Amino acid sequence: MTKRVFVTRRLPEPGIRQLLDAGIEVVVNDEDRPVSRDELLAGVSGADGLISMLTDRIDTDLLDAAPELKVIANYAVGFDNIDVAAARSRGIEVTNTPGVLTEATADMTWALLLGAARNLGAGERMVRAGRWTGWAPTQLVGQPSGGRVLGIVGMGAIGSAVARRARGFGMSVVYFNRNRVAPELEAELGARWLPLEDLIRSADFISLHAPLNSESRHLIDAAALASMKSTAVLVNTGRGALIDEAALVDALRSGEIAAAGLDVYEREPALTPGLVDLDNVVLAPHLGSASTEARSAMVHLCCDNIEAVLAGRDALTPVPG
Ligand code: GLV
Ligand code: GLV
Repeated sequence: MTKRVFVTRRLPEPGIRQLLDAGIEVVVNDEDRPVSRDELLAGVSGADGLISMLTDRIDTDLLDAAPELKVIANYAVGFDNIDVAAARSRGIEVTNTPGVLTEATADMTWALLLGAARNLGAGERMVRAGRWTGWAPTQLVGQPSGGRVLGIVGMGAIGSAVARRARGFGMSVVYFNRNRVAPELEAELGARWLPLEDLIRSADFISLHAPLNSESRHLIDAAALASMKSTAVLVNTGRGALIDEAALVDALRSGEIAAAGLDVYEREPALTPGLVDLDNVVLAPHLGSASTEARSAMVHLCCDNIEAVLAGRDALTPVPG
């Protein structure tokens, strides 16, 4: 019997061609917007495979509506949108796209880190609004990177790629991860493990790369923000809910920390009131993996995972757990 795969959103090149070439029937939400809950429920009914976006909530109700489903390929490295335990208990494999978006996300992290440190958002708004009256010795003076300490929270592939770049900027690197990484990797990255509290208290720049789960939700809360340096710059390209966004707005407003660079938010695309009014935060619209190479490689990896599982083989990149 022909297998059927539901794809919840139009994908960039090379798109779904690979699945069609493999003789799989593919149904795509061809409108460039997230599927509604009803469209998602209808789409998975009778489907053998699903390519989901991080904006799709895959919970038990959804799984109950998909008795034929064998594989969910999430078009993202994060998979907090999926109830993985519930899927696996029904014999459904869940895969993500690690590796292929590591460098793209590390680049975006640095764009936000430097942009926040050097007031790029505020400067851009000034120029565009016609408020720039010319160079001035005291204008938008920010934080240097060289010689400062970068604290990385979550030393997986992306955290490591961020650490590698830090060398070029002459920064020293400390990190927190539940498990210390191998001594060889620590040596290669020149990174020193610190307890989270010590990292938060001592780092000049703090960048979040931990997965979102019940333990890491609001890892950065009001107390953590209060213990940061007043010159600290906080960067988040992981998941919005790693930070208590309301507490962050307060901390940025009161000067408890100097600046932030955000790519992700607690309730995307909604923003906590007050955030857009602050000049000391750079706001990106969840662009971490948005490079031509990364987005194409993510398509291939999702399709490879779908094909493998539907052919009775092991998935290439099953999510951990
Ligand atoms: C993007 O946020 C991803 O998890 O790939
Ligand atoms: C600034 O542009 C300078 O030349 O110092």
